Amino acid sequence: MMNEKISGLLKFPILALLVLTSFISFSQDISKDAAVIKTGEDLFNGNCKSCHRVKQKLVGPALAGVYDRAPSLDWIKNWVRNSSKVIASGDKYAVTLYNEYNKSQMTAFTSYKDDQIMAILAYVKAEADKPDAPAGGPQVAGGGAAQPSIPSGYLDAILGGMITNALKKYLNEKQLSEEDNEVVNSPITVSSFTSSPGFIFLVVFVVAAISFKTVIDGLYSIGVQQGYQPKQPIAFSHKLHAGAYEINCKYCHTGAMKGKQANIPSPNICMNCHSQIKQESPEIQKIYAAIGYDVKTASYTEKQKPIEWVRIHNLPDLAYFNHSQHVNVGGIECQTCHGPIEEMEVVKQYSLLTMGWCIDCHRKTNVNNEGNAYYDKLVQVHEASKGKGNKMKVEDIGGLECSKCHY
Ligand code: HEC
Ligand code: HEC
Ligand code: HEC
Ligand code: HEC
Ligand code: HEC
Ligand code: HEC
Repeated sequence: MMNEKISGLLKFPILALLVLTSFISFSQDISKDAAVIKTGEDLFNGNCKSCHRVKQKLVGPALAGVYDRAPSLDWIKNWVRNSSKVIASGDKYAVTLYNEYNKSQMTAFTSYKDDQIMAILAYVKAEADKPDAPAGGPQVAGGGAAQPSIPSGYLDAILGGMITNALKKYLNEKQLSEEDNEVVNSPITVSSFTSSPGFIFLVVFVVAAISFKTVIDGLYSIGVQQGYQPKQPIAFSHKLHAGAYEINCKYCHTGAMKGKQANIPSPNICMNCHSQIKQESPEIQKIYAAIGYDVKTASYTEKQKPIEWVRIHNLPDLAYFNHSQHVNVGGIECQTCHGPIEEMEVVKQYSLLTMGWCIDCHRKTNVNNEGNAYYDKLVQVHEASKGKGNKMKVEDIGGLECSKCHY
């Protein structure tokens, strides 16, 4: 009984294998070499992935099996180099495909050599032949950092100094004030104990400490909006775009590598895909309204109604934060600070974004000095003073200096 079941189950893969081998046509020319596949993977990720997936339809078709369905490998090479030329030649396969994809124009990769295109196909085939991965959420690179509270050591250090100064100032002012003089020199009977300098100091100290704590608590909670998750004017989902479709963060947030701001994408970036995808959706029509696009005529009108995205992360004006310094130079993943955005239907503020949060990371994080000649000298100086093997932290390059973060 058991055996019958097993052999029954075995029949299917064997049959499938037979069918597959009979299908091997020109796809046998595709390399299985690991180095070629790696080259192909890089090319694919850099140039094709915004529109194609191996096993999934995106802007263009799933590329798995294209080596079997397209007219020939040469056809694919010509297509990748200039698809409009192939379409213009009247090629039947190309014209049908083009119409099927609502006349979306594929980018032309005119400079691609044959072996580069073959490497992409090698990668696509290697991926296509892999068994499906078990379901599960995408991996978060960098890991969601735990929420640090205000680093007490640091606070103690500045506040220690600040409290003594403040207290001295407070005492100086208060001791000379009329009220205090009245208390001390009161003609009314006051016990010698309460009027003793020790008692007055104690009262003043307690009052000062309490008011100081209130001020500090206030400072550290001003503008703290961890968890802030406003409703956005378009139901845009990071879970769908960055998660399920794996669109790279930097494809939309183009500023993160280059400058201070990561930037919210302009509707033109949405249009790269949504001029075709989901035209009928009321949410997508808000994108069209924003730039005055008329789907029926595929033309632009004058009427525009900008999308008013609600800003979520917001430092006060007195603080300076630069994305490219952290993402590009520091090599920090977006998720370290923003959390698992690719799992969020609606974005929320994941980190505290307080001064303590910035400082805490600057004390713990090693400077990413690999391949950055600028840091060679600093590393030398650092190791000379702190000993070899002592990694240079952000604090060692001035990451705790007030002026670095404050205008
Ligand atoms: C801007 C989006 C876009 C990019 C980028 C893009 N493609 Fe395409 N591709 C398409 C579309 C859309 C089609 C479907 C035909 C059409 O509408 O032109 C297509 C079709 C194809 C086809 C034919 C598929 C079939 O089923 O026969 C191949 C092969 C192909 N692309 C390869 C590539 C490769 C390789 C790259 C990267 C070097 C790439 N494409 C980059 C949009 C794109
Ligand atoms: C297809 C385009 C697109 C991609 C891909 C994308 N985003 Fe966004 N992102 C947006 C848009 C549009 C908004 C504004 C609406 C919103 O908050 O959801 C936004 C908002 C954000 C915000 C909040 C900004 C604020 O107001 O403070 C963060 C943080 C963010 N994205 C990070 C990421 C990260 C990290 C990734 C990659 C995992 C990513 N995004 C991928 C389009 C994109
Ligand atoms: C070291 C922490 C950190 C990292 C890493 C980081 N961000 Fe940010 N991000 C912030 C802070 C802090 C703000 C608020 C900045 C402000 O208000 O000036 C912010 C704001 C934003 C905003 C709102 C608009 C803007 O530019 O101010 C977007 C969008 C965003 N980040 C996306 C990203 C993306 C995408 C990545 C990865 C490529 C990334 N961030 C990496 C800390 C970080
Ligand atoms: C690289 C391609 C790509 C880009 C760029 C892109 N999207 Fe999308 N978007 C998709 C795909 C794919 C879907 C899923 C379509 C489906 O469900 O069939 C989608 C779905 C959506 C939906 C859900 C529509 C519905 O009614 O189900 C909204 C809303 C949306 N996108 C908004 C945006 C906005 C806003 C931008 C620009 C900030 C944007 N998209 C940029 C590919 C893209
Ligand atoms: C996840 C860790 C992390 C967090 C959180 C973080 N930083 Fe940084 N920061 C770094 C790293 C790493 C560098 C060093 C980058 C480099 O190599 O130049 C850096 C460098 C800097 C520098 C340049 C320092 C110098 O001496 O050149 C400034 C300014 C800065 N960060 C500001 C901030 C502010 C403001 C915040 C909070 C809003 C913040 N950072 C949060 C990791 C972090
Ligand atoms: C790594 C960056 C960084 C460094 C270094 C830094 N700060 Fe800050 N500081 C911030 C950020 C970010 C905020 C805003 C946080 C918030 O609103 O919760 C802030 C807020 C403050 C505030 C509160 C202002 C207000 O209105 O909320 C004071 C006061 C302050 N910093 C003083 C200092 C002093 C003094 C130093 C030097 C000993 C210093 N900071 C060093 C990043 C930094």
